[in-house]
Amino acid sequence: MSNKIQVFDTTLRDGEQVPGCQLKTEEKIIVAQELEALGVDVIEAGFPISSPGDFLSVVEISKAVKEPVVCGLTRSKKEDIDVAAEALHHAKRGRIHTGIGSSDVHIKHKFKSDRQQVLEQGVWAVKYAKSKGLEVEFFAEDAGRADLAFLAQMTEAVIAAGADVVNIPDTTGYCLPHLYGKRIQYLFDHVKNIDKAVISVHCHNDLGLATANTLSGVIAGARQVEVTINGIGERAGNTSLEEIAMIFQVHKDLGFETGIKSEKIYPLSKLVSTLMRMPVQANKAIVGSNAFAHSSGIHQDGFLKHAENYEIINPADVGVPSSSIVLTARSGRAALKHRMELLGYKYEGEELNTLYENFLIVADEKKEVVDDDLIVLAVNLPVLHR
Ligand code: KIV
Ligand code: ZN
Repeated sequence: MSNKIQVFDTTLRDGEQVPGCQLKTEEKIIVAQELEALGVDVIEAGFPISSPGDFLSVVEISKAVKEPVVCGLTRSKKEDIDVAAEALHHAKRGRIHTGIGSSDVHIKHKFKSDRQQVLEQGVWAVKYAKSKGLEVEFFAEDAGRADLAFLAQMTEAVIAAGADVVNIPDTTGYCLPHLYGKRIQYLFDHVKNIDKAVISVHCHNDLGLATANTLSGVIAGARQVEVTINGIGERAGNTSLEEIAMIFQVHKDLGFETGIKSEKIYPLSKLVSTLMRMPVQANKAIVGSNAFAHSSGIHQDGFLKHAENYEIINPADVGVPSSSIVLTARSGRAALKHRMELLGYKYEGEELNTLYENFLIVADEKKEVVDDDLIVLAVNLPVLHR
């Protein structure tokens, strides 16, 4: 089995569903072009039947990108598939992402149906989508809570019907990593024709486990990951592209590869956050403003001696301009001395001690001591070496 992992980005579909994150078609085209430059393999451009705006976006993104597959979401309904196929007309490689619920809770309470009927509907939808001459990905919605034997039956049936990719979503973010991995493993052990399709993982973050579950699914054999920039998506969001890409890069021993050009991650994170008016939490892995910021004295001292003491990723590798040392009341002399040197002031011994005492008084009053505060401290210190 190849170790190349296909990156399926759904920022413009699952991500854009988030209230307040809606983008105009022109903005979506900009994001899609940047996703192409980042090196994603598939762009889920929207849900064409959901609105004229989404339809237009899928049309325009299909024209605007060359390399990635462009994908449109549908329910297992004729009208959805017809509209999606029309929207994908200009795509160099188009894919219909169709599917239906697979868990008993969805079958009973969402579709008011039974297993046999949803199975037949799903198989029908795959065959109909296939007749449009496009790639077809099938999603078994809420697969994280589905009966495993039924999930295997559904997977086998949709592959036999022609699905190129089968998505096993943990729609509600319910699974634990080792159990989600076991689910994927079960499919590899029980679905006879599984080698005829790519298995995809699409995990939600309701318990903060989306990335861990995605990794577990890949280790068990999935070869496509469904992700979003900054982890945006329904409710608590989806697996974040930056986390999964950097896990594979940092842990090369796992042997998985993506085509992601990691140095483009941070600029795209900023672009998506700005266009969607969706701030990134400060402590977000890889792209949060604190991801490469060191604030305690012990860490700052260690970082200044050797960055790898406290950084497992070089910020430049993800396009972050530089690490930062944040000066607070928890900072030590080493960080203060370093920052003063950057500002052109050199302190040692007693002078440094005096400066540090004065610094702590300011730091206790303020959350963060900035360069202007340091200059005021320096000019007020009686004996200075400049
Ligand atoms: O979470 C989910 O199950 C989805 C499907 C539509 C793929 O987003
Ligand atoms: Zn989803």
